[in-house]
Amino acid sequence: MPPALSFTERVLHRLHILPTPVMDAFGAVIFARALTVGLRRGMFESVARHPMAIEELSRNTGLGAGGVRLLADAFVAGGYVRCRKGMYSAGPEAKKWLVKDSPTYLGDLILYFDSLNSRLSGLDYSLEHGKPREPYYASFTDTDWETYVRAMANLARLLLPEVMRRIRIPESGGHVLDLGGSHALYARECCRTHADCSAVVMDFPPALRVAAATAGTGPEERIRLVSGDILTSPLPGDQDAVFLFNIVHGFDEEQNRSLIARAAGSLRSGGRLYILDQMTGTGERSLISAFMPLMVGLNLMNEIGGSAYSLADIRTWCAEAATFRVMPLRFPGVTLIEATDWR
Ligand SMILES: C[S@@+](CC[C@H](N)C(=O)[O-])C[C@H]1O[C@@H](n2cnc3c(N)ncnc32)[C@H](O)[C@@H]1O
Repeated sequence: MPPALSFTERVLHRLHILPTPVMDAFGAVIFARALTVGLRRGMFESVARHPMAIEELSRNTGLGAGGVRLLADAFVAGGYVRCRKGMYSAGPEAKKWLVKDSPTYLGDLILYFDSLNSRLSGLDYSLEHGKPREPYYASFTDTDWETYVRAMANLARLLLPEVMRRIRIPESGGHVLDLGGSHALYARECCRTHADCSAVVMDFPPALRVAAATAGTGPEERIRLVSGDILTSPLPGDQDAVFLFNIVHGFDEEQNRSLIARAAGSLRSGGRLYILDQMTGTGERSLISAFMPLMVGLNLMNEIGGSAYSLADIRTWCAEAATFRVMPLRFPGVTLIEATDWR
């Protein structure tokens, strides 16, 4: 995050004296790109190993001494790196989020955010027309797909423990369908933690290729990766649970109505549809919870013609479900919905 505001700065901000747009626009653009360079050059891994002077950091990252000093000092000001007597070391933020062997590593997600830049030049057009000239995956290379799937996996790893505590699937022999399941982490976890559970993950072929290449030690024989278009391909029936995780924000209203009806149609009687997304109108007071779904919405309209939807929108699309449970997650702005007893 940009450096925490001092007491005086907070007062100036409240009085509208601080030039907030400069921090929002200039600071955010430059700092985001700086984080990407830091990640690509292994800066956070370096300073996490042991405190080091600029000369060593320059050798490790391949950046010039002047450049690496600027970068490292920006990370000190931004709260990621510490500097004592000329020796740079990783602070808790860097160790937790930006060092690869941390279980909460988000580096792939940050690299994916950087890849949005090239397409964000079309934001005007997308906001005018409600969709981009062409959806993101039309121009995706294999490397782009890998970055994207790994980024989604970073997020899923953070959410997984809480999501798994909330969802209800049979203790044994359950059937789970993950639509747009990408990296397959949710399906793998269901199968790992529930005896004889089997799962189908449907997504586009390049996403599933990355998922297959990153298979873990879970019960892969119970997981089927199925290439298909979740809007049109036939879906397996008799499911105990269907997941739509981070999916509805990528479609327009009509597509979402139809997708939810299709998903509900593949449930067995008493089966549950789970929708996880960044929603507006959840009543949460936190500024981050209000801000993040809107950033996701702007980005998704630009990437693929999606939007940020409200809890009320989703409730309407699930009108045929007699039971509709709303479960805000601890991750800012993310909500999980369980819709069951479909008529
Ligand atoms: C934002 S990611 C979410 C991945 C995963 N569900 C998660 O929550 O981490 C959206 C996924 O949906 C897939 N997807 C989008 N539209 C699709 C479609 N029409 N058919 C199949 N997959 C689709 C994308 O390829 C991508 O893997």
